[in-house]
Amino acid sequence: MASIQARTESALGRWLPAPDVAPQRLHQAMRYAVLGGGKRVRPLLCHATGELADARPEHLDAAACAVELIHAYSLVHDDLPAMDNDVLRRGKPTCHVEYDEPTALLVGDALQALAFQLSSEHPLGDDAAAQLDMVRLLAQASGSRGMVGGQALDLAAVGTTLSPEELEFMHIHKTGALIRTAVLLGARCGTRLSGDQIAHLDHFAKVAGLLFQVVDDLLDSESTTATLGKTAGKDAMQNKPTYVTVLGTVRTRELAAELQRQARSALAPFGDGAQRLLDLTDFIVARKF
Ligand code: IPE
Ligand code: IPE
Ligand code: MG
Ligand code: MG
Ligand code: MG
Repeated sequence: MASIQARTESALGRWLPAPDVAPQRLHQAMRYAVLGGGKRVRPLLCHATGELADARPEHLDAAACAVELIHAYSLVHDDLPAMDNDVLRRGKPTCHVEYDEPTALLVGDALQALAFQLSSEHPLGDDAAAQLDMVRLLAQASGSRGMVGGQALDLAAVGTTLSPEELEFMHIHKTGALIRTAVLLGARCGTRLSGDQIAHLDHFAKVAGLLFQVVDDLLDSESTTATLGKTAGKDAMQNKPTYVTVLGTVRTRELAAELQRQARSALAPFGDGAQRLLDLTDFIVARKF
């Protein structure tokens, strides 16, 4: 994990515009929002799946960084006063606090554009038609039928209660879509996997994406600001329906354990080859932040 995290950090550092290139303040804020923090879970999933698909690491870097740039943009916008109004992210002041709100808006816009520039400019495999479809997948996961759609549901749900089905729908979109795409892009950077195998990985990725946000809800309610590097207790403070408010802590923990079992069993057909994905599944559950 440490070596993929380091390689991702250096690829992102290389692909983000240099801080002394005009407009300097925007580029500095983009680097501030992306570099030097974050668990890099999506790149880790992309590389682990890519290894199963026999993909070239440099192709995986481009796919992994494109997903991570969309994720970083989503966090910058998520933290804005108009959304979750958060002042702390990855243990540092949020982008709009360190810089200013208009800059944070533009940072998100520019990171999203950079993600699509990267994924279309650098080879993700040896087949141009397959690459075009991968860029389409990333667009779909990022937009109104994916992450942005989930964020819209999240904002509309403030102060209301949701059924478990509605909550699952929201979480699958706001967080699940990008996690799923990290896995699918990794699988499709290589050529070794059959359609059936990709379908197993897709099932794994859907479960892992939901699991990720279920654990995020638990951490928000149970952990501390110092451990999380973001303000704890924020969901309750803002009257957001979460798994913790809908099911209670005990049943949410049971759900996380059940999703962990389902994710692991989706990987069974791959035997030892899936060890890194199994480890990442356990990490998603056991993580402290
Ligand atoms: C936080 O994501 C936002 C959610 C989608 C739950 P991460 O927990 O992956 O945040 P970083 O990238 O490690 O900071
Ligand atoms: C954010 O969910 C999901 C995104 C698309 C950014 P949260 O609002 O729960 O993420 P945190 O807790 O602020 O990281
Ligand atoms: Mg949010
Ligand atoms: Mg938030
Ligand atoms: Mg949260």
